[in-house]
Amino acid sequence: MKTITLETQVKVYAYHELSAEDLALTDAALEATRRSYAPYSRFHVGAAALLENGIVVTGTNQENVASPSGLCAERTTLFYANSQYPDVPVVALAIAACSEDGVTPSYPISPCGACRQVMLETEKRYRKPMRILLCGAEEVIVVESARDLLPFAFDNY
Ligand code: THU
Repeated sequence: MKTITLETQVKVYAYHELSAEDLALTDAALEATRRSYAPYSRFHVGAAALLENGIVVTGTNQENVASPSGLCAERTTLFYANSQYPDVPVVALAIAACSEDGVTPSYPISPCGACRQVMLETEKRYRKPMRILLCGAEEVIVVESARDLLPFAFDNY
């Protein structure tokens, strides 16, 4: 028997420490939360994907009364980006959330497992790491690759 240790390093930035490009992407994600459709959870999530050609695509969570039919903001955004620009890598994805009264949770949002798997697939299809920016009220957690959010992922094909 042996033990394997899986480690993930993330960087935590105050907003004023972000580059202008990263700040614009977090702003776009936060702004997108206003277009979310979340009548059931009242938890509004927005995401903004930066493509290699400079285009920014945004998306939001879309809920459904039959809950599994809804979709998280991250997957809405990545699927849209990949559908509109199938040949253009996604180089960064910012994710933000706000409650019904417009307040951003203090701790940065953490994507669900299904979204992490889709992020990983996006990296895989473009053979490029995608930076992920998780927005909180005061700080932003930045990971350099989706792989850091999903260690030991299913990736056997
Ligand atoms: N949600 C997202 O859109 N992204 C996340 O990273 C976490 C959760 C959505 C799904 C659902 O519409 C609502 O937030 C509450 O779970």
